[in-house]
Amino acid sequence: MLDITIHPLGSNAATVDALAALIVETVAGGGSVSFMHPFALDDARTFWRGSLAAADGGSRVVLGAFEGETLVGTLTLLLDCPPNQPHRAEFAKMMTRPSHRGQGIATALIRAAEQVARAKGRTLIVLDTASDGGAGPLYERCGFRLAGEIPNYALKPHGGYTGTLYYYKELA
Ligand SMILES: CC(C)(COP(=O)(O)OP(=O)(O)OC[C@H]1O[C@@H](n2cnc3c(N)ncnc32)[C@H](O)[C@@H]1OP(=O)(O)O)[C@@H](O)C(=O)NCCC(=O)NCCS
Repeated sequence: MLDITIHPLGSNAATVDALAALIVETVAGGGSVSFMHPFALDDARTFWRGSLAAADGGSRVVLGAFEGETLVGTLTLLLDCPPNQPHRAEFAKMMTRPSHRGQGIATALIRAAEQVARAKGRTLIVLDTASDGGAGPLYERCGFRLAGEIPNYALKPHGGYTGTLYYYKELA
């Protein structure tokens, strides 16, 4: 079992670089995380700079999973919900380095994000994941329930449509 530590990330150049390399590698490998292949490293840096600035401002939490000093996974908890949904949060941008998959890192990130959500008074988590090659089975093992599927929701990184599966979990 890997020795993984998980903690929230803030804005700094090294973190932006590590997250950018991770998402570019993920998209190249066909991971559905909003972007198309090839995803330019500079565009990936721009995306993460914005995301980390939002994290600095408290509207999201970007968790990083580390093996030693090396970033091997991430998951974002979005907290910026409308005024009538103060109890809700959303998962986004969950990914593990291809070299480190199948060893429980995403599962640990999901557990950590649930703890952060609870600590922030959030009792409902929602997310969507690609029907084709997404993380549906993993979320189901973590207690998420399928709300439904929307067909042809997005393009896969290398082209062709995929549906998306909407999941939710009520935190006890
Ligand atoms: C989805 C993704 C984040 C999963 O990351 P991961 O770190 O490999 O996830 P885990 O290891 O926690 O679980 C994955 C599998 O390993 C298995 N596993 C978990 N812990 C394990 C362990 N200690 N030893 C061996 N296998 C284990 C799980 O049962 C799971 O099985 P599955 O392949 O049937 O789903 C990763 O595949 C990824 O980055 N994909 C591309 C991006 C993407 O699609 N993200 C989802 C967007 S919502």
